[in-house]
Amino acid sequence: MMVSPSLLAANFADLRSEMEWFNQSTADWLHLDIMDGVFVPNISFGFPVLKHVAKLCKKPLDVHLMIVQPEKFVQEVKDLGAYLMNVHYEACTHLHRVVGQIHEAGMKAGVTLNPATPVSVLKDIIQDVDLVLLMSVNPGFGGQKFIPHTIEKVKELRKLINETGSKALIEIDGGVNQETGKQLKDAGADVLVAGSYVFKAPDPSDACTRLKAL
Ligand code: DX5
Ligand code: ZN
Repeated sequence: MMVSPSLLAANFADLRSEMEWFNQSTADWLHLDIMDGVFVPNISFGFPVLKHVAKLCKKPLDVHLMIVQPEKFVQEVKDLGAYLMNVHYEACTHLHRVVGQIHEAGMKAGVTLNPATPVSVLKDIIQDVDLVLLMSVNPGFGGQKFIPHTIEKVKELRKLINETGSKALIEIDGGVNQETGKQLKDAGADVLVAGSYVFKAPDPSDACTRLKAL
């Protein structure tokens, strides 16, 4: 199982120390949640802060944009050195064009679905994306409860990927812990995002390794 700890649950007053344990850990990617207070009812951090985090982080950056018009920021995300840029299906009128722009910039393209958006909307884009991020909470906040229906969505997405021969990875975000992580793995997930479960654990590095071992 791949693990992408979410910086949203980190100690923002001591990001240098957080990046020290993180770089030594078994984590695969670092998940960065950018919010605009419009697409979601919260604001997290932006590029001026992430520029410094990116310098300290030695692992690939998995950027999750919870903003309207994410296509405006392809260059900024690229400048961070990001590996993956995730945009919300609900935020892109011209999703196919945005996916192309992300690829042209040399990044992997991920499409994110809110809990109420069905997997079936991906039918005509699944061949073009590198990853699908299914939200298992309503985006905007860390520490929320996992929405159980996500398990059915993972199974449906796995089926769509297998049927179409798409190479897309399945990533899940929100309320992931040991228990929900196991259910997600069994349903066919490839990557788990975990904020509170990892960063608020007595030993974050150990929490990371527990998820990886699922
Ligand atoms: C929520 C964010 C998540 C968040 C997950 O809008 O997209 O990445 O950090 O936090 P936990 O793992 O605490 O639910
Ligand atoms: Zn996220």
